[in-house]
Amino acid sequence: MTMEDIYNDLKRRISPKRFTHIMGVTKTAEILAKRYGADPDKAYLAGLLHDCAKELPLRQMQAMVDEANVLVDRAVYENGALLHGLAGAVMARDYYGIDDEEVLEAIRVHTTGKVGMSALDKVVFLADYIEPSRKFPGVDALRKLAFIDLDEAVLAGYDSTIAHLLEQKLSIYFKTILGRNDCLAQMKRSR
Ligand SMILES: [Fe+2]
Ligand SMILES: [Fe+2]
Repeated sequence: MTMEDIYNDLKRRISPKRFTHIMGVTKTAEILAKRYGADPDKAYLAGLLHDCAKELPLRQMQAMVDEANVLVDRAVYENGALLHGLAGAVMARDYYGIDDEEVLEAIRVHTTGKVGMSALDKVVFLADYIEPSRKFPGVDALRKLAFIDLDEAVLAGYDSTIAHLLEQKLSIYFKTILGRNDCLAQMKRSR
């Protein structure tokens, strides 16, 4: 599929609100990539496809990862808010024909984070929080921080997710905690 085909397919399939979010993520990820030395074209493409599976029913996401023989932790398999990253990467590869492993990985980990995120993973993860249509307390401060220090901003992204999960009495996926700690450790090492 060409980039235009992918765009048109998503526009047809995805709700207008989420499509606006997606286009915000593409542009924000592209700008952040330029700022932090990641590939802007890959950031754009990963942004475009990061939520391609998000509006599918959970059963369909599960069928997709099953069919592709993806190993999934139970906590992710049963939660669409987490699983749409893995399912999205499968869909990006098998339906949209994307074979760039760096792009697929950025899509895969955008819902959870992970230990050892690449610059591309980080800019997509962060763009998902701060794209222009996002509204939550503290988003403006996070937008500013994103252009000052990538790792500080990624850490703040993890923290806001974890705080939200605590507030809502929801469980926290262990890889998100490990990813957050790894981000902190990287920051300490680089100082
Ligand atoms: Fe997402
Ligand atoms: Fe998103």
